This record gives sequence, structure tokens and C-alpha cells, in this order.
Amino acid sequence: MRVLGIETTCDETAAAVVSLSSRGCGDILSNEVMSQIAEHAAYGGVVPEIAARAHVDVLDRLVERALATSGCSIHDLDGIAAAAGPGLIGGVIVGLTFGKALALAADKPFIAVNHLEAHALTARLTDGIEFPYLLLLVSGGHTQLIAVRGVGDYKRLGTTIDDALGEAFDKVAKMLGLAYPGGPQVEKEAMEGDPQRFDFPRPMLRRPGADFSLSGLKTAVRLEAERIAPLRPQDVRDICASFQAAVVDVIIDRIRHALRAFRQDNGDPSALVVAGGVAANGAIRRSLTRFCGESGLHLVLPPPALCTDNGAMIAWAGLERLRHGMTDGLDFAARPRWPLDPEAERVNNGKA
Ligand code: KG4
Ligand code: ZN
Repeated sequence: MRVLGIETTCDETAAAVVSLSSRGCGDILSNEVMSQIAEHAAYGGVVPEIAARAHVDVLDRLVERALATSGCSIHDLDGIAAAAGPGLIGGVIVGLTFGKALALAADKPFIAVNHLEAHALTARLTDGIEFPYLLLLVSGGHTQLIAVRGVGDYKRLGTTIDDALGEAFDKVAKMLGLAYPGGPQVEKEAMEGDPQRFDFPRPMLRRPGADFSLSGLKTAVRLEAERIAPLRPQDVRDICASFQAAVVDVIIDRIRHALRAFRQDNGDPSALVVAGGVAANGAIRRSLTRFCGESGLHLVLPPPALCTDNGAMIAWAGLERLRHGMTDGLDFAARPRWPLDPEAERVNNGKA
């Protein structure tokens, strides 16, 4: 079984071909990503209109390249998948329309993929892990703890009530004068910083439930930076290290709470799975490795290139859905907002 996946929900244009391997996981036959970071850098964030136009500019060549690298022609495919949301509507429409047109022209089944579901299922592509598992999804737009019980079967255990984690990294970077996107910059600075110099708050620590709140931490960082201004390079490094240490403590605490809720309803999870761009952070990866080692929990950390937005995850989610006969009509509309768990309460401005 081979599926082409197309991703255009944010600032990466991506296309990939994935096949089902005999081991039950996926083989990535090609995985082409073109980042638009340079186009948005001057604005300090993603500009939706620029993103949509940039997707139009490169998508056809990228899909051609993904097919050529995989050694498949469009006729060898079993299905065509495109991310249909959630994300920036202009970009989503570009990839979705392209995918539908290809499916129509080649007479192939079409699968409209939820971008969050694709992040959630990546651990099955890389490691073939069994349901149910606990997912920590941490990206620029999402911060969620989810019980993944099956394809299309998700229960949200926690979400952020304000900023997403990646957004907090990006905002802290901006206030410290670091380049966009901020997450990798903060991590780099933190490597030579003192994580104990500033005692930043750990919002929600030990509170019931598994929700996150990051805006108070972000404000504390801003106030401290203003208090000790002008900042010397070592101040920036220490602030980054102290911020990251606070984030790590919050993440581990929230996972502990989510695990308790998970076990009540589903028994033991087969693994803790981490996904989303922030999962590329080395300090977070190390602390999760330590935590899972101590708690005897299997940890699946996909390689950073599969944690950030990519086409392989869309192709794989499409493949999983296709195997279950879950295909979509060509009238499927783009969804700027598309929660994985529709029953979950809406807690913030639509990001969750
Ligand atoms: O999943 P992703 O590529 O895009 C979406 O938001 O869907 O995640 C991007 C986010 C950005 O906020 C970026 O700053 C953050 O992930 N990020 C990191 C690191 N690499 C990327 N945050 C912390 N440490 C990193 N190494
Ligand atoms: Zn994403």
C-alpha cells in the first residue's frame, strides 16, 4: 500500500510517499520539505498571505520530486492524502485542492487528513506501536495531552488555557532579541546558561487535571528581562536556561497527571509518544527520557525531522485511514479549526 501525502497548513510545504512495511510500520519512500522560514523571518512570525502564495509557488515541483524520489508514478499509488486542517486557511486550501485534483485526475481514493492526527500517528509510522498510548503534542499552535485509542479515536486529557508551548518559546526569543523561529535559538542559548539563576514560576504545577498555562511564565520572563536590562549575552543565556528548566518541570508534572487519568479509563499506555516541533528540544527530550526510565514507561521520540511538520506524517495518517476504508469526497472543505477530540471543551481562542 502506497500513499502520497501533502502538507501546507503552516509554513512548510511538504510532500512524501509512504508505504506499509511488513513490520506493520511505514517505509518512507520520499519526504520532501521546503521551509518558508526565510520569507517570514523579517516579520517575526508566519504571515498567512505570504504562506499561501509560497505554497502555490512550489507545491507542484515538490510533489513531482516526491514521486520521482520514491520511484512511484502517480498510477502506482493506492491513495492521495492532503492535510485539510487545522491551520492557516489559505495554505490549507492550496494543498487540499491540489490533492483533490490529483486524486480526480488519477482516479485514486482521496483522504482528507487532520494535521493533528498525523502528528499523533507518527509514532506508528516510525515504531509501529500499538494503541492505546499517551501523546504529548507540543508545537507552535498546540499543546495537548491526548489518549490515542485508535485511528480516529482520541480523548483530550489536557490542553493549554493560553499560549502554546512553541509560541511561548518564540515570544521569549523575540523579547530577548533572538531570531525567528525562537525555539531552536532559546535552546542554543540555554546550553551555556545557568538554569538556576532565575526562579521563574511553574504555572499549574501540582494542580488537578493536565492543562497547561504558559502566559504567566512568559510575563515573568519579560519582567525579569526588563528589570536587569540592558541584557548582557550571559544574561540572555541564563534567562533561556531558567525558562527552559521551568518548562521542563511543568511538562513532567502535567504528564504525571495525564497518566493518572489515562490509566483510569484505558489501563496502561503502550508508550508515551511525543510529537510537534517543540519535541525537537534536547532538554525536553532528555528529561522525558529520564522520567520514562524511572517510571518504566516506553518512550517514543520520533526523529526531529518527523516531529516538525512534514509530508510523511500526512501520507501515513492517510494510509492508516485508507486501511480502515475511511476515504473522503472531493467536496471535503478546508477546516481552519478541527479539534482531534470534538467532545473536549473549547478552552481558549480556538487554538486547542
Ligand atoms: O510542529 P511545528 O513545526 O509547527 C507547528 O506549529 O505546527 O512547530 C514549530 C514550533 C515553533 O514554535 C518552534 O519555535 C518550536 O516548534 N521549536 C522548538 C524547537 N524547534 C522548534 N521549540 C523548542 N526547542 C526547539 N529545539
Ligand atoms: Zn504541526
